[in-house]
Amino acid sequence: MKTDNISIVLLHEHPDYVEACATLLNSQWKRSSSARIQTLNKSCEDLPDSLVLLEEANGEKEVIGHCRLTRIMEDENGCFIESVIIAAEKRNKGYGKYLMFKAEEYAKQLNFSTIYLSTHDQQGFYEHLGYLYSEPVSSVKFSRGNHQVMNSLFSFMKNARSESKSKADMRNKNMVEMKENYPIPKVPPPSPPPLLQNKITCTAICDNTGKYWMKKTL
Ligand SMILES: CC(C)(COP(=O)(O)OP(=O)(O)OC[C@H]1O[C@@H](n2cnc3c(N)ncnc32)[C@H](O)[C@@H]1OP(=O)(O)O)[C@@H](O)C(=O)NCCC(=O)NCCS
Repeated sequence: MKTDNISIVLLHEHPDYVEACATLLNSQWKRSSSARIQTLNKSCEDLPDSLVLLEEANGEKEVIGHCRLTRIMEDENGCFIESVIIAAEKRNKGYGKYLMFKAEEYAKQLNFSTIYLSTHDQQGFYEHLGYLYSEPVSSVKFSRGNHQVMNSLFSFMKNARSESKSKADMRNKNMVEMKENYPIPKVPPPSPPPLLQNKITCTAICDNTGKYWMKKTL
């Protein structure tokens, strides 16, 4: 892949590419143009923000790729990457990998330590780039700076998480005490039939909408 005519810009610094990004995204995932543009116009320094992949030819820059980084509800140190797309005629040339690499670099620069994503059918691509299957997370579609509600939501999630962690710790402690007082003789469990094992593995990584959740430590 040649990179001398390729560049990446942040959409909040180059709002002139909003329409071209909307057209590219709508070529893959049909949605009303105005809704698409409205979402893209929310791009800001504090996230959500889009990385736009540009190719220069004959002095003109054309949008050939896009991805968006958002914050997530569950982890202040994690971010989410979504709407990853390379123009159909430019696929399988290394641009997707390049864009993902640049997005990861940018996320690291913003001090995120984990990057999450979900996908219906591109898990092979992300596995190839080092992503592992993970628990689901919730992507935040609006900026923290403009919405005080974001900060309240973060602290609500934090409290809920620490509450459920202390409940879990208590349950584990009770379990240990019970085992110490009433030791249970160990009997090896029968192994499940192979078909059931496959089913368990599948539901662990793919939710009931058929989405796979993945993450990578940066
Ligand atoms: C998914 C997508 C972004 C990949 O971009 P791309 O430019 O075609 O991919 P690349 O050429 O950079 O591929 C990089 C590597 O991943 C591999 N790869 C690509 N797609 C793959 C797949 N589905 N399964 C396994 N490996 C895959 C390539 O073989 C290549 O391997 P290499 O580094 O060993 O040569 C692109 O196909 C796309 O825009 N698809 C439609 C939109 C979409 O589905 N987006 C994902 C939403 S979750």
